[in-house]
Amino acid sequence: MSHTIIIFGASGDLTSRKLIPALYGMSRKGRLPEATRIVGFARSPFSHDDWRAKLTESTRKFAGGEFDAASWQTFSQSIFYHPGDVGRREDFVELKSLLDKLESGAETTRVYYLAMAPQFYEQAVEQLGAAGLADESRGTRRIVIEKPFGTDLATARHLNEVVHKVFTERQVYRIDHYLGKETVQNVLVLRFANTIFEPIWNRNYIDHVQITVAEEVDVGRRGDYYDKAGVLRDMFQNHLLQLLMITAMEAPVRYKADAVRDEKVKVLQAIRVPTPDEVCRDTLRAQYDGYLKSPGVAPDSQTPTFAVAKLSVENWRWQGVPFYLRSGKAMSCRTTQIVIQFREPPHMLFQSGNHSMHEANRLVVQVQPAEGIQLHFQTKVPDAGMQLRLTDLDFSFQREFHGTMPEAYQRLLLDAMAGDASLFARADEVEAAWGIIDPIIAAWRTTGRPEMLTYEPGLWGPMQAIDWMDAQGRSWFDACPVLDAGHKE
Ligand SMILES: NC(=O)c1ccc[n+]([C@@H]2O[C@H](COP(=O)([O-])OP(=O)(O)OC[C@H]3O[C@@H](n4cnc5c(N)ncnc54)[C@H](OP(=O)(O)O)[C@@H]3O)[C@@H](O)[C@H]2O)c1
Repeated sequence: MSHTIIIFGASGDLTSRKLIPALYGMSRKGRLPEATRIVGFARSPFSHDDWRAKLTESTRKFAGGEFDAASWQTFSQSIFYHPGDVGRREDFVELKSLLDKLESGAETTRVYYLAMAPQFYEQAVEQLGAAGLADESRGTRRIVIEKPFGTDLATARHLNEVVHKVFTERQVYRIDHYLGKETVQNVLVLRFANTIFEPIWNRNYIDHVQITVAEEVDVGRRGDYYDKAGVLRDMFQNHLLQLLMITAMEAPVRYKADAVRDEKVKVLQAIRVPTPDEVCRDTLRAQYDGYLKSPGVAPDSQTPTFAVAKLSVENWRWQGVPFYLRSGKAMSCRTTQIVIQFREPPHMLFQSGNHSMHEANRLVVQVQPAEGIQLHFQTKVPDAGMQLRLTDLDFSFQREFHGTMPEAYQRLLLDAMAGDASLFARADEVEAAWGIIDPIIAAWRTTGRPEMLTYEPGLWGPMQAIDWMDAQGRSWFDACPVLDAGHKE
């Protein structure tokens, strides 16, 4: 069966930086199904050749060493462009004619990819429906929707309703590109394809879990967007909660989209929704010094660029084990990591070592940019009596498998074409995630607490975050990637 990928927002950044290089990369590896064509849609008045020429330059830049003129020339012959505005009905009617012509009436799987600003999602979906483009009489029709999916629970619910008027849930693929990362999928493999971790993956052995998404960059020129969103909408509702779900979920009965997503949703349902007082006690928010002077940011902005949330997953496995989620801009380095902090031994025989929580066993899953896993454990220092030192065993994807790690978008695009939604968020999952984040945002707004802290760019957030953790008898694992970094996001 042939495939057509129709990209709305074809002249934009995501298309040239990620989507086309990913499709080209898969074509080079021979993974793209034969007879796959790509059709771009945006207002810019390109011809097919103009768009191909623009993409030649951008792909040369963003595909890195993988670009090769001969294979690109072949690949680019299956790229087409249709100028159009999502606000204009007739542009969709013309798009339909172009698609029918390109596909010559053959049964085709179409994937509509919304790579444009979220305010256009609703309109684009309605136009696709009105033009008969969701009709499946001549092949499967799917829609991929980029993040952010809504800005709160009400808008996400509304968008789901609009989408479901045109597409059934089976046809909908909501992207969180973190799920396309090999290291995130490897958490499932680590947990469910090994026998040694699962027996200790619970409240009996784990003291707490830290999940950090740190960005080294500040808001740069994205102040206008960022000031309306803030770190909770930008990072917590999607990436951080996805990492939490993958870490905390039960084993699905099989590796199938709905079985996996059923287990993930159960984790969100088990998270205690904090009251305003609990928000004050269990969250921190801060802005980096200089944020208020960034272009596009209100001078009296109350938008946090850093936050911590301590969440409780109230079920048999995790009762009493806090999950600390943390993210910020202008931090010490760029790293995404999941730290499983095990409990201290019940009785310490050796008196000469350091015995505190941060000396207990720890499993560090490094998601990016240095992909791998480290297990920290105590060792006897040779020729030093019974002195102990925390050391580690480490596994690095790069060292073990050589080659480059595929871009998350390669896997996600292939899965959407193949109809595997395991790595995409379901409607109830997105809504449940907003159901946890909304009360925190509301409590910050209505109570004005906790106070807005500040931090120097280049640190791990405000100093108060260290004291706050200290007061709970715990400490942050503040480490820039400890494995060889070899890949970019
Ligand atoms: N960029 C990234 O790396 C990235 C990463 C993750 C998620 N995302 C998400 O992906 C989406 C796109 O982001 P982006 O950075 O690519 O945005 P962008 O660079 O601003 O591109 C927006 C695209 O939408 C098109 N467009 C705007 N108004 C239109 C209209 N009325 N009718 C048809 N096309 C229209 C623009 O083309 P014309 O002006 O030619 O119409 C352009 O192609 C956003 O939801 C973003 O959150 C982006």
